Amino acid sequence: MTIEKKIGPMDLSTFKSKGQKFSMLSVYDYPTAKLASEAGIETLLVGDSLAMTVLGHPDTISVTFEEMLHHVKAVSRGAGNSMVVADMPFLSYQTSTRDAVKNAGKFLKEGRADAVKIECGRNSFKTVRAIYDAGIPIMAHIGLTPQSSGQLGGMRVQGKSVNNALRMIDDAKLFEEAGAFSILMECVPSDIAKLVSQEVSVPTISYGAGPHCDCQGLVSSDVLGLFQPFLPKFSRRYTDLSKQIREAFKSYHEDVVSQQFPAEENCYP
Ligand code: KIV
Repeated sequence: MTIEKKIGPMDLSTFKSKGQKFSMLSVYDYPTAKLASEAGIETLLVGDSLAMTVLGHPDTISVTFEEMLHHVKAVSRGAGNSMVVADMPFLSYQTSTRDAVKNAGKFLKEGRADAVKIECGRNSFKTVRAIYDAGIPIMAHIGLTPQSSGQLGGMRVQGKSVNNALRMIDDAKLFEEAGAFSILMECVPSDIAKLVSQEVSVPTISYGAGPHCDCQGLVSSDVLGLFQPFLPKFSRRYTDLSKQIREAFKSYHEDVVSQQFPAEENCYP
C-alpha cells in the first residue's frame, strides 16, 4: 500500500475535510519507518517516548535534543512519502522562543523532518507563533503533556472537570490561531476530544482521545509488543515480537552451544 506522493500538512487538512481517517505511528529508526510507510501509515512521529521505549529511561525527561536528532535522521531516511514529525524534547523549546525556532529548524535542516511537535501549556502561544513565523509546520500537543506531568499531578487523563475541558477547547483554538497545522490530544475523554475536533478547523490526532479525532496514533513498541513494562489503556498490541525475538535469540544461542551453527553453507571455502 505505497503512498503515492509526499504527505504534508495540506494533505492532512484535505483528509479532515473529506472525513477520511488517517493514522500516525511513533517510530524511532530506519527499518521501522520504512515498514510503516510501506504499510501506508501517513504520518510518523519521532516521539520523545524514545526515552522510555528505546533508551530505557523511566520517563521522557532525560532524552536530549542530540539523541532525538540522531533518530529523526534515521526515520527520515526510511519514511518514504510518509510525513515525519519530530518531537521537541524537554528544554529544547521552553527556554526561549529563539531556542525553540533554532532547534525546530535543526530538525528540518539536519534531520530532514517535515514538521515539529511541542507539548503546549497555557503560555505556549508565543512559541507556536514563533515557530510558525519561521516557516516551520508546527503541531500542538495538548491534554496529557508528559514533560510537565509533575505540574499536572502525574500521568493522568486530562479535561475531566468542566473547567479543564473548557480550557482545553480554548487552548486548541488558541494554538490553531497561533499557526498550528494540527492538534494532538493525549489521554483526553472522547466527548471532550470530539468537541475540540468540531471547534477547530485543523485535523486532530488522538493518542488516547477516542474515535472522533481525525487521526489515530499509537506507539510502535506497543503495537509490536516490544515495550514490556506496561500497555496504556488506549493502546493495542497487534503482535508479540518480544516473544519471537527471545525465541530466535535462544535458538541461535543453542545452535552455537550444540555446534549447529555455523553450518557448511555459512563458511567461505
Ligand atoms: O512521544 C510520543 O510518542 C508522543 C505521543 C505519545 C503523543 O508524544
